[in-house]
Amino acid sequence: MKRHLLSAADLSRDDALLVLDTAEELAQLTERATVKKLPTLRGRTVVNLFFEDSTRTRTSFELAAKRLSADVINFSAKGSSVSKGETLKDTALTLEAMGSDAVVIRHSWSGAPVNLARWVKGSVINAGDGTHEHPTQALLDAYTMRQRHGRVEGLRVTIVGDVLHSRVARSNVLLLSTLGADVTLVAPPTLLPVGVESWPCETSYDLDAVLPKSDVVMMLRVQRERMGAAYFPSSREYSRRYGLDVRRVTTLKDDAIVMHPGPMVRGMEIAPEVADGVRSTIQEQVANGVSVRMAVLYLLLGGAESAIGSPE
Ligand code: NCD
Repeated sequence: MKRHLLSAADLSRDDALLVLDTAEELAQLTERATVKKLPTLRGRTVVNLFFEDSTRTRTSFELAAKRLSADVINFSAKGSSVSKGETLKDTALTLEAMGSDAVVIRHSWSGAPVNLARWVKGSVINAGDGTHEHPTQALLDAYTMRQRHGRVEGLRVTIVGDVLHSRVARSNVLLLSTLGADVTLVAPPTLLPVGVESWPCETSYDLDAVLPKSDVVMMLRVQRERMGAAYFPSSREYSRRYGLDVRRVTTLKDDAIVMHPGPMVRGMEIAPEVADGVRSTIQEQVANGVSVRMAVLYLLLGGAESAIGSPE
């Protein structure tokens, strides 16, 4: 594994499988233990540097680091010197001077983590940068697919919605193609990025045509906060063409699963009955996120071969 996790493209097939296998092992260890804490990263410091709002990802990284006994500093831009105009570089150097071993960063700037990695000596983990990438989300999604389907290779994965603004979609296309899945992106033409033809996936505008062939359907949120203009006529029209409702779900294969990275807009890209239905893996994705992030922190910081250690 490289020192940083900036892009899903940083992971070879072996690296990605190592993360998934380690996550599985860690999940079993913590499940069995009465105290869900392992001593692996005792004495190491992980900084959570979040410049954008987050519920799942920030708490997931915090819990993951704490379960490995690392010290965790949660740093949010609000109420810090960043709001006084301090640059990302100065913030990073300050944190480094305090002795952080890893920085987990979320930022609206696509490229913030790559730059941060040039300035600090520790590991940098991209927890979502602008519309660029979100590699640990892709890893937890792959983990969830493997848990439900027993494999990732050969799965037909359909990713639906606001691909243009989605770092989740970008990282998933890269990771899933590395792992041998066949990805199809489905979106209105206005919500597909320029240059998507060169991505390792197929594209379609027709959700109904693609659903019956899918093993996995991953719905994306329409990211209004990143939209300066109107990308589709109305919410109603969007839902009618690209929303996953009860009728559409009946066209899926028996064992097909429905995923969503959250936060969901119920009634827009996904009907509430579908989000809460038996095919939905939404809660599993959240739970798996902790194990996968433990694995990433462990592999980047722990170093020691198989020394996952025994529960305390
Ligand atoms: C996503 C994100 O922040 O990129 N959410 C997440 O990390 N669970 C997707 C989104 O905001 O819609």
